[in-house]
Amino acid sequence: MKFLIINGPNLNLLGQREPGIYGEENYTALCGRLRAFASAHQSTAECFQSNHEGAIIDAIHAAQGNYDAIIMNPGAFTHYSYAILDALKAVRIPCIEVHISNVHQREEFRHRSVTAPACVGQICGLGLYGYEAAMRYFLCMSN
Ligand code: DQA
Repeated sequence: MKFLIINGPNLNLLGQREPGIYGEENYTALCGRLRAFASAHQSTAECFQSNHEGAIIDAIHAAQGNYDAIIMNPGAFTHYSYAILDALKAVRIPCIEVHISNVHQREEFRHRSVTAPACVGQICGLGLYGYEAAMRYFLCMSN
């Protein structure tokens, strides 16, 4: 399968950003590990990260016809980006939303995802393993 892994704002700072919540692995290491996991499963994973809503929307549009599945952590956009919700609805690529932390144990504003309704499902609270768990789901469903 061809995976596109999208990470939203502040996730480029993984490793240094609140490591007690988001872990100690940095973004580059995470992407390397996800690419290796994909290749061990006869698949590819490309990683895209942006702090800009429009750039994420452009990446979702450009994914049409080029990827089989999207795994996305929209970061704080999760909680208010109707534009990302609409972009996901506009393309015919299944998406799983991933949150590293258990958003339901945190501040009230993190409890609501406006983007999840356009996704197959949501994984949260499994730490950085959540991205791999999402890939495992899609691989399992494609066989
Ligand atoms: C997050 C949770 C969001 O509330 C937060 O804004 C993030 C990261 C997570 O992965 O747990 O940036 O999506």
